[in-house]
Amino acid sequence: MEKITAIRGFKDILPDDARRFWEVESIARQVFNSFGCREIRTPIMEKTELFKRSIGETTDIVEKEMYTFADRDSEFLTLRPEATASVIRAYIEHNMSSAEQITKLFTIGPMFRRERPQKGRFRQFNQIDVEFFGEDKPQADGEIIFMLMHFLTSAGLRDLELEINSLGCPDCRFKFKLAVINFLNKSEKNLCPDCIRRAVTNPLRVFDCKVETCADTIANAPTILHSLCSSCINHFSQVKSLLNDLNVSFIINPRMVRGLDYYTRTAFEVKTNALGAQNAIAGGGRYNSLVSELGGPEVPGIGFAVGFERLIACLPEDGKNKFTNDLFIATLGEQAQKFAFTLTNELRRAGIVAEMDYADKSLKSQLKRADKLNSSFALIIGDKEIEEKKVVLRNMQTKDQQTIPLDGLLESIIKIIKER
Ligand code: HAM
Repeated sequence: MEKITAIRGFKDILPDDARRFWEVESIARQVFNSFGCREIRTPIMEKTELFKRSIGETTDIVEKEMYTFADRDSEFLTLRPEATASVIRAYIEHNMSSAEQITKLFTIGPMFRRERPQKGRFRQFNQIDVEFFGEDKPQADGEIIFMLMHFLTSAGLRDLELEINSLGCPDCRFKFKLAVINFLNKSEKNLCPDCIRRAVTNPLRVFDCKVETCADTIANAPTILHSLCSSCINHFSQVKSLLNDLNVSFIINPRMVRGLDYYTRTAFEVKTNALGAQNAIAGGGRYNSLVSELGGPEVPGIGFAVGFERLIACLPEDGKNKFTNDLFIATLGEQAQKFAFTLTNELRRAGIVAEMDYADKSLKSQLKRADKLNSSFALIIGDKEIEEKKVVLRNMQTKDQQTIPLDGLLESIIKIIKER
C-alpha cells in the first residue's frame, strides 16, 4: 500500500530534536521569568480579520501565505501566521490593561505560513514569542532586546548579529513613504511588476523584494532615518545608548523594514551565518498603535519572536540531547522477571530512568539493548540471584561490577545512582 507522508513544509520533530526543544524551552521560561514575563496560551486559529487588520492587508503574509478557510458557518478562519496579533486579541479580550499597567507575556507554539519550503523555512514552524505592554519608554526597548540576547546566548548560540532600526511614528512614516514613492516613480523601469504594484499599495514593502534588480535599485532608495521626527530620533538615540550601557553590540540597518505593517519606532532582527539564506533567528519591534487599532485601549507594546527550528539548527551536535538511561535490568528466568518488573516501576516512581525487557532474550542481547539506551548501569538478576538474595550491578562505562544484597535493593540502587 502507498505510504502517506507528512504535508510539504510540515515536519516531524523527532525525539533527539524534541529534547532540544524541551531544554531550550526550559531556559526560555527561566530567563523570561526573571524579567517578569508570564505565559499565555492562545488558540492556533483566529478570525481571519484579526491578521488582516494587524499584519496588514498588503503584506506578503496576508496576501499570499495564510492558511485561511471558510468554516461550516461560512466564517473565515486562519491558522495563526504569528503570535503577536493573537496575544493582543487576548490582552484586549481579557481586559488585562485594567489589572496592571505593565503586562509582560510570552507564548511558545506553532505558526503557519504558506511560504516556499527550504532549509530553515517551513510552513508549520514554532516561535518563542514575547510581548511587553504598557511602556513606551526606550528602557522597555533596551530591556526586551537585552533579554532576547541573554536568552539566545543562554541557549548556546554564538556569533549572533543584532540589527536595529527605527521605523518612526506615523508622521515619519508618511514623510518616508512620500520619499520612497518619489524614488520608485523615478526608478520604475528597474523594478519588478510586484514592486511597481507595491509602489502604489504599500511602498515600504519594496524593501523586502528578493528580485536582484529590484534589490540593487532599492539599495539607493532613501532610508527612514532621514525622515525621522525629533522625538523618534531622540527615542532611537536613547535605545542605542541603553544597549551600549548593557554591553549589547548591534549594528544599525537603516533598510530593515520588517515584513509586518504594525511596527513603530524600534525594529530589530537577530541574524546568524550558520543557517544559509534563512539567516534571521529572531525579529521584533515596537507597535505603539496596534492595541488600539485592534479595538483596545491606547497601550504601547513591544515584542519579538524567535524561530524555534532555526535556533535548534544552530546548536552544536554535542550528543547532550540523546536519550540516556540510568539503569537497565537484565533478567534470566521467570521469577527474576517478575521481581524486576516491580523493581523497575518502583525505581521509575523514585525518578530513576529505568528499563527492562519483557521478551525472554539472552543476557548478551539484553546488555546490547542496555548499551543502545546509553545506560549508566545494568543490574543482572537471575532466578539463582533471587534464591541467593544478592544481585550484580555493572557500571556500563567502566565494566566494574559490585554485588548488592536483595534486602534493601531499591534504596541501595537509588543511592548509588543519585550519588554517581
Ligand atoms: P517574523 O520576523 O515574521 O516576526 O518572525 C520571527 C521569526 O520567526 C523569524 O526571525 C524566523 O526565525 C521565524 N520564522 C518566520 N517564518 C518562518 C518560517 N516560515 N519557517 C521557520 N521559521 C520562521 C514575527 O512573527 C513577529 N510577530 C515578531 C514580533 C513579536 N514582533 C513584535 N512582537
